[in-house]
Amino acid sequence: MKIIRAKDYQDMSRKAANIISAQVILKPDSVLGLATGSSPMGIYSQLIKWFQKGDVDFSACTTFNLDEYRGLTADHDQSYHYFMYKNFFGSINVPDNRINLPDGAQMAAEKECARYDAAIRAAGGIDLQLLGMGLNGHIGFNEPDDYFSKGTHCVDLTESTIEANKRFFASADEVPRQAYTMGVQTIMLARKIVLVVSGENKAEIVRDAFFGPVTPRVPASILQLHTDVSVIADDAALALCNVM
Ligand code: GLP
Repeated sequence: MKIIRAKDYQDMSRKAANIISAQVILKPDSVLGLATGSSPMGIYSQLIKWFQKGDVDFSACTTFNLDEYRGLTADHDQSYHYFMYKNFFGSINVPDNRINLPDGAQMAAEKECARYDAAIRAAGGIDLQLLGMGLNGHIGFNEPDDYFSKGTHCVDLTESTIEANKRFFASADEVPRQAYTMGVQTIMLARKIVLVVSGENKAEIVRDAFFGPVTPRVPASILQLHTDVSVIADDAALALCNVM
């Protein structure tokens, strides 16, 4: 695991965007695993700028997002579909038919999760997976548990995640209680992983996840066992870790 120190959120975003654009330049038909949340937003705006300058071209890429709220339709303004089109897809040139997210409107959970896993396999697996990390160490929506999850599945969100995500909704009551998420195994099968983390409120979880034991109680800790992970963290997020 490589830990890359960044000065601040903007520096973290540029560094991660550099890795993603290098991936797409080296392999134009890359399969990209993408994430939502506030952590990747700066990466998306940087990549949009480079796309507009003609420096990077996404026309041959395929994308798979990590997760989606169960019960929200794609046009709901808090769905991850909506987030991705607003913050990234709407401003670049990935063809619509190669953009994939779990379908939150499909209430038949097993069927939807099996469909999503099959689509990832059919695309040849994920070349580069971008991740953020929740305050409790969740990746995608894989919450702390007694075991690591495998493929895409439906999860009950924890109170801490509902609390953290309520800022995007009118109230905590409106935050969906369930989500579809790629499993930990799905994420670990990605050939390359880039995780971005910023801010002092993440300092403890950065220490626990990347310098503590590998445990399903801290889902991101499993990334320590992957052979190609870059964690790009800013000074504030690294405050409790002794890294250069
Ligand atoms: C959500 C998403 C995760 C994301 C996490 C952290 O729960 N499902 O994919 O990594 O929040 O969000 P943020 O980057 O806003 O801290």
